[in-house]
Amino acid sequence: MSEAGKEPAASASKEDWGSISKVVNAPLENVSSDASWISVIGMWLTFPYSLLQAIFAGLCGRIFVCISIGTCCIPCSEQLCSAMGSVLRGRPLYMAWTWWRYVLSGLIALIANGASRLALFQWEWRAFGSGRYWWHGEGVWCWSYEDCERILKSQQVRHSAFGCVQACVPDLFATNILIFLSNTGSSDSEWSAIRRALHELFLDPASESYQSRVRQLPAYIAKDWPNPTLEGMNDTTRLQKLVSKSVFYAMFGKWIDDADALVLTGWRTNATYFILPRLVQRFIFNLGIKKVKKLRENTVGIVQKHGLQDKFAAMNDSLGRWKRAPVVKLCDEIMYVIGFAGIGGTSAAVESCAAFLQAKIPKEASSKAIKWGQYDTSAKMVAKYKENPDNYIRETCRMDPPVTSATGVLKEVTEVTLAGKNIEMPAGVLNQYVVSMANRDPAVFSDPEVFNADRSNLTKALTWNGAAFSVEEADYPRVCPGRYLSMDIAKAIINHGLGVASGTEFVTV
Ligand code: HEM
Repeated sequence: MSEAGKEPAASASKEDWGSISKVVNAPLENVSSDASWISVIGMWLTFPYSLLQAIFAGLCGRIFVCISIGTCCIPCSEQLCSAMGSVLRGRPLYMAWTWWRYVLSGLIALIANGASRLALFQWEWRAFGSGRYWWHGEGVWCWSYEDCERILKSQQVRHSAFGCVQACVPDLFATNILIFLSNTGSSDSEWSAIRRALHELFLDPASESYQSRVRQLPAYIAKDWPNPTLEGMNDTTRLQKLVSKSVFYAMFGKWIDDADALVLTGWRTNATYFILPRLVQRFIFNLGIKKVKKLRENTVGIVQKHGLQDKFAAMNDSLGRWKRAPVVKLCDEIMYVIGFAGIGGTSAAVESCAAFLQAKIPKEASSKAIKWGQYDTSAKMVAKYKENPDNYIRETCRMDPPVTSATGVLKEVTEVTLAGKNIEMPAGVLNQYVVSMANRDPAVFSDPEVFNADRSNLTKALTWNGAAFSVEEADYPRVCPGRYLSMDIAKAIINHGLGVASGTEFVTV
């Protein structure tokens, strides 16, 4: 099949291209004292003691709040024996012990909440008094639609942080990936330059090459998955491989083989490792980091195998003062966001839809948070999907968002109330906005826990980092640049699974 669209003029010599191994093994950045190896040894030596405290804290909200921000009667507990106190003091080694028990409590609370991140967030929010803010990790979290919308419409300051903790760079995360860059409002910013180039070269839904590739997707999917059935959608590896192949095809015009697709599914299956801070990574002997480094190397290997280096050299040339050296660094950064947000997010969306279509609770969701309403059988669900696939996918993702929250920083000193205490947070403290909870704010979505694909305000959901597909979409500067592609791929796969004819309308701009 032909590859229409822009052909890159630049070519990457071996020297310009560089070594991915050197990129992922570059010196570590921003390692706080409490994540040093001395702290890790301390955590191992005191493990039973920290675990005991963590069991109580992970199961009892009041204790969890206490170890998070220090609410007990011990003088200065808020400053000296809480995770928040450690952050506000610059995370010194002498406060590392607050993290040993805190990270274990978080893990236990997650398990106690059925391994559902949304259920964990809701549990923490209630533990902190169901107010505007709560504390988790290294920052304050906000959840209301109003707050999330305000942040999403604004210029955001970003750091190398993910899940409201400092990201492990450059080994677990690539440095300078889009989600770590601030959108300052200037068209000359690093964020603008990379985002513009990514959109123009790979993700422009108005371009002819994009549209022709998306039109080919159903045929490729059909070839890969003969005799589809609804039950066949329970094979998550199959779904993840199809998503990986489809994303790669839409961007590069190459339908990769099963072995390569299996490698790329790692962007979904390694999701747990991305949220762990360096202290925990080291505590588990960097097992997660090693896996993700391998994934990054193998992903770049697939790009090289298909001879796509020139595309990245061309993109690099368009970056002006933000040009990367060597080119492979840019390839790694781009493939990182494509893998992480694109393959991971779209796989999650398709898996959620597969479960919803069978009126089953998806693996990572909480049964308490999902009610089927009038769509309590698989037959009714399938009929609803066929009526309007776009709305069906949007409502599924509103209730079970593939990306649950994102990390910015407070731009100014902010007074927050945490568990009844008024605390002045300095500017620069991490600030998580929780789209998964905003999508359930009763002030905007009535009966938020009930499935209803006929909601009139469905496109108000912030699932794609803004009110995607709505008339106000342009008001959200960081709206996901892969939103159209994710919908097109999800529909192509689900349509095939349900035996819906491939003439379905695809999302266009
Ligand atoms: C259902 C699937 C998807 C969902 C729900 C989703 C959602 C999101 C969200 C919430 C963000 C903001 C993350 C943050 O700022 O930390 C984001 C960013 C991003 N997404 Fe998606 N996404 C999906 C699929 C895709 C696809 C298919 C691609 C590309 C192939 C993609 C590429 C990106 C990129 C590059 C960013 C960074 C944008 C920036 O920071 O300016 N996403 N996405």
